[in-house]
Amino acid sequence: MSWWSKFADRMERDAPIGRCTWFRLGGNARFLCHPRDAKDLSALMRCARDHGVPCKALGSGANVLVSDDGYDGVVIRLDNETFRRVDRHDDSVTLGAGVDLMPLAKQCSEEGLSGLECMAGIPATVGGAVRMNAGGRFGSFGDVVRRVTCVGSDGIVETIDQSELGFGYRRSLVGDRIVCSVEIGLCQGDPVQVKRRFDEYFSYKQETQPLADKSAGCVFKNPPGQSAGALIDRAGLKGARCGAAHVSHRHANFIIADPGATATDVMELIDLVRDRVEREFGTRLEIEIDIWRPEMAKACI
Ligand code: EPU
Repeated sequence: MSWWSKFADRMERDAPIGRCTWFRLGGNARFLCHPRDAKDLSALMRCARDHGVPCKALGSGANVLVSDDGYDGVVIRLDNETFRRVDRHDDSVTLGAGVDLMPLAKQCSEEGLSGLECMAGIPATVGGAVRMNAGGRFGSFGDVVRRVTCVGSDGIVETIDQSELGFGYRRSLVGDRIVCSVEIGLCQGDPVQVKRRFDEYFSYKQETQPLADKSAGCVFKNPPGQSAGALIDRAGLKGARCGAAHVSHRHANFIIADPGATATDVMELIDLVRDRVEREFGTRLEIEIDIWRPEMAKACI
């Protein structure tokens, strides 16, 4: 019997996860699992850990680049109904980690519920948004989070308060835990004003970013006090190309995958941009996107 036998009816093998990312690039995952609920996720994580098999959660795939060699472990998708619940309470909302944030942010803004306007135009599931503290110049998801329930690699389920989650610029202390659900606090505002803010933030993104192309959003974090996009632009790298990947003409911090591109093309372009910006301005850019490379598991998976 294999270690994964008891999850067999919700486990795909050799699954093409690259297709599930916004880049639509990269290879397969050894396993792709759709846990039923938090208890099932906990059992899976413990079992995988005991057999030395690495696990990663895949949300909407908006910030992930899967290598052409794929990922040699378990990819977890929280797309079961239990992870897509939205439960409203008096002054808070509990969201499953698999909830798609963009439509939720739009709906809340239409109802005048303020707090998620900064997520306008940001593709993310709730779990990914917590882990990366998704957001932009208008705010971040961590600002509205109250507490997060997640499962550790040892299978232990814990609820962590916002103050202990270390939210910062595109980071949190979630680490290798997998988020199950999140409680957020929103406040009732004037629907006209809240919706106006949402529309304004969304328009800004549409005007400045290549949203219709295959990309993973901004590739690099902004260095303190600087803009990565402006540095790449000033280095003359708009339009720079490796294979079928190129630096966007609209926003230089976006790398676009053209038809025929490979994940390797994108990775080579990332290195090229990084090296050129460092040579030009002495600033080493930090990569924002999550790059998944094959990971060797010790056990016989
Ligand atoms: N700029 C250029 N050339 C470019 C791009 C930008 O000169 O090619 C200049 C702009 O004119 C502006 C400055 O750089 O003066 C900053 O640009 P922008 O306002 O577009 O903001 P950003 O810092 O590049 C951040 C987030 C985005 C988020 C926007 C809007 C990062 C790395 N990026 O972009 O997030 O959408 O603010 O809120 O923090 C993402 O994380 O994937 C992402 C797209």
